[in-house]
Amino acid sequence: MYLNKADILLGLQWGDEGKGKIVDVITPSYDIVARFQGGPNAGHTLEFNGIKHVLHTIPSGIFHDHVKNVIGNGVVIDPIVFAKEIKALAERGVDVKSRLMLSRKAHLILPTHRMLDAASEAEKGKAKIGSTLKGIGPTYMDKTGRNGLRVGDILEPEFQERYNALVEKHKKMLANYNYQYDITELEKEWMSGIDVLRSLTIIDSEHYLNQALLDGKKILAEGAQGSLLDIDFGSYPFVTSSNTVAAGACTGLGLAPSRIGDVLGIFKAYCTRVGSGPFPTELEDETGEQMRQIGKEFGSTTGRPRRCGWLDIPALKYACMINGVTELIMMKTDVLSGFETLKICTHYNLNGEKIDYLPYDIDPSKVQPIYKEVKGWNSDLTGMRSLEELPKELIEYIEFVEATLGIPVTYVSVGPDRTQTIIRGKVSA
Ligand code: GDP
Ligand code: IMO
Ligand code: MG
Repeated sequence: MYLNKADILLGLQWGDEGKGKIVDVITPSYDIVARFQGGPNAGHTLEFNGIKHVLHTIPSGIFHDHVKNVIGNGVVIDPIVFAKEIKALAERGVDVKSRLMLSRKAHLILPTHRMLDAASEAEKGKAKIGSTLKGIGPTYMDKTGRNGLRVGDILEPEFQERYNALVEKHKKMLANYNYQYDITELEKEWMSGIDVLRSLTIIDSEHYLNQALLDGKKILAEGAQGSLLDIDFGSYPFVTSSNTVAAGACTGLGLAPSRIGDVLGIFKAYCTRVGSGPFPTELEDETGEQMRQIGKEFGSTTGRPRRCGWLDIPALKYACMINGVTELIMMKTDVLSGFETLKICTHYNLNGEKIDYLPYDIDPSKVQPIYKEVKGWNSDLTGMRSLEELPKELIEYIEFVEATLGIPVTYVSVGPDRTQTIIRGKVSA
C-alpha cells in the first residue's frame, strides 16, 4: 500500500516564475526533491543568508542536508554544465555527492547537440525559437529518434564507440547546415564531465522513488520551464522540447498518475517571457520597462532581457486545467508596488468575439487582451512578513485571481529571499 503521494511544483507561465526560490522554501517538508524534465536551459535562483545561487540541472533542494536530490530519467544532462554546477556548490561547502543521485536513464547532451541547436536557430533566421542554445531540442530529438546516449551508457565498455558513432551522425547533419564549428576543446571538457558523472551515485530512479513512497517518504517533483513552453500545450513552435506539465512528472520520474498528490502551480503577479513567440499581454512601453528594471527581469541562464506584461488569466486558467493545480503560489508581488493602476487580462478578443479561454493561435494579429483595471498599492512589501501587513489592494488582487481560477493562493512572495515569503494556507506535505 502506498502511504503517500508525490507533490509537484511547476511553472504556470513561460518559465522563471520563481520555482527555485519556492522549492528551497518548502524543501524542509520533504525527504526527496526530484527534477523530471528539461536540462541546463533552466536557471533556478535561490537566495538566503545573503547569498544568491543559480542552479541549472541540480534540484533546488540541494542546500538542505537532510534531503536527497534526484535527477530523473526525463532530464537531459550536459556533463560540462553539470560539472561546473557541482564545483560551484562545493565552493559553497555543499556536499553534493552525498545528497545527489542520477537516473541511469537520463539522456546526455553532447557538444554536437549544442552545435546542432545553434545551426538550426541560425538557419531559422527571424523565425528562430530564441532557444537558450544548450542543445535541448537536438538531445530530445535523439531521445525520441532512438539514437540518444544515456547516463547508464557511460559505465559500459563500448561507451566511447557509441559516442563516436553519434558524433559522426551529427557531423553529417551539421555539414548540411553548412555551419562552422570546432568542438576540440568542448569535447575534452565533456569527457572530464563524464568522469565527474561516473563519480556520482547513478541509480534506477524509478525504483528508488516508488520504494521511497512505499517507505512513507515525502517527494517533491520540481518542474523546469513553464506550462506555456510545454511541447504539447505551449505556444508551439515557440516552446521547449519536453513536457513541462504535471504529466511530465509521471513519465520523467516513473511515477504513475495515481501516485501524484498535490500540484503546486507557481506564477508571477504579472507575466514574463524570454525568447521568441506570442505574448498577448506584452508591454513594449515604459510600463514594461519599469517591470523589467524593478523585477530584475534578465534571464538566469542567458542574461537576456525578459519581455514583461500584465497577468493573463485565460492563459493561467488553461495551465491550471492541464496541470490539475491544487494550490497556487503568487510570486514577485513586490515588483508591482508603485503602479497606480494594474491591469489583469480576463478575456481575449478573438476576431470580434469575447472569449475567456486560450485559443489555438495566440498571435497578436489574432487575439487582443481585454483588461480589467484595478487599483495598485504603493507600500514597499519587501520587509513584510505577515498577511496582516499586506495592503488591502494586494489582498483584493489575490482574492480576484483565486475566485476566477477557483484555486487557493497559499503562498505569496514579496522578495527573492527565502524569508520574504508569506503563508496564507497549506503547501501540502
Ligand atoms: P525559476 O526559473 O522559476 O526558478 O525562476 P528564476 O530564478 O529564473 O527567476 C526568478 C527571479 O526572481 C530570480 O532572480 C529570483 O531571485 C527572483 N525572485 C523570486 N521571487 C521573487 C519575489 O517575490 N520578488 C522579487 N523581487 N524577486 C523574486
Ligand atoms: P526555467 O526552468 C524561461 C525558453 C527559451 C526559448 C524556448 C526554447 O528557468 O523557468 P530551449 O533552450 O528549451 O530550446 O528554448 O524556451 N526557455 C525558458 N524560458 N525559463 C526557462 O527555464 C526556460 N527554458 C527554456 O528562452 O524561448
Ligand atoms: Mg529560470
